Amino acid sequence: MEKALIIGASGGIGAALVAALQARGVAVTGLSRRDDGLDVTHEDSVAACLGGLEPGFDLILVATGALEIGGAAPEKTIRRVTAQAMADQFALNCIGPSLVLKHSLRLLPRDRRAVFAALSARVGSIGDNALGGWYSYRTAKAALNQMIHTGAIELARSHRHALCVALHPGTVATDFTAEYAASHDRVPPDRAASNLLGVIEALTPAETGGFFDWQGKRVAW
Ligand SMILES: NC(=O)c1ccc[n+]([C@@H]2O[C@H](COP(=O)([O-])OP(=O)(O)OC[C@H]3O[C@@H](n4cnc5c(N)ncnc54)[C@H](OP(=O)(O)O)[C@@H]3O)[C@@H](O)[C@H]2O)c1
Repeated sequence: MEKALIIGASGGIGAALVAALQARGVAVTGLSRRDDGLDVTHEDSVAACLGGLEPGFDLILVATGALEIGGAAPEKTIRRVTAQAMADQFALNCIGPSLVLKHSLRLLPRDRRAVFAALSARVGSIGDNALGGWYSYRTAKAALNQMIHTGAIELARSHRHALCVALHPGTVATDFTAEYAASHDRVPPDRAASNLLGVIEALTPAETGGFFDWQGKRVAW
């Protein structure tokens, strides 16, 4: 891998991915809302930030996302679901990475292996959902998984060496989990980054469109 683009480079996992790739000698372009004004929920912003980049990225990874947006905590009951919180979750966790995929097509090489990956979450799995709760986040990630799977089918027609995948990073010690999973075993971001890069490197084009965890195991849709 020579060139990588990390979207959400200011986040816990995004920053660790930038560092891990740089340590491997990869030329990394990192973009974020904080440092570059890239708001993935606004197409003008995505188009402006990605439009100026030269094509040829071996990896484009979207590491943006949030569990709590605008003070709306993940819902334990349907009684707490609101239209606004659901719309905000869809905007950030599904529409955002989808717009990035749209504007990434011209940046991915057609003549060699390339990977487009978005950080999803195991809780977006319908088949794996035994606990309930977290309605809006779960549903937005499930919708993201469908976008990634559908995008992979189209991408394969123009980029036959490319992969488009959804990845579950594990439970990672970042701001994201500080309030909600602090009691769970959490891996440090640098370990999560190296796990994810290991999975990305091992995937074959036949696996495009899939949903994989940090160990490279398929997650149920
Ligand atoms: N941590 C975990 O255990 C875990 C588990 C499963 C899945 N995930 C997924 O992994 C991804 C990254 O999580 P993380 O733990 O690294 O979270 P994090 O440390 O909270 O980072 C979140 C990132 O998202 C960016 N972001 C938020 N809203 C944005 C917007 N509208 N436009 C552009 N960027 C925006 C933030 O940018 P700024 O700070 O610059 O605003 C930041 O870079 C998320 O999709 C999350 O769902 C994480």
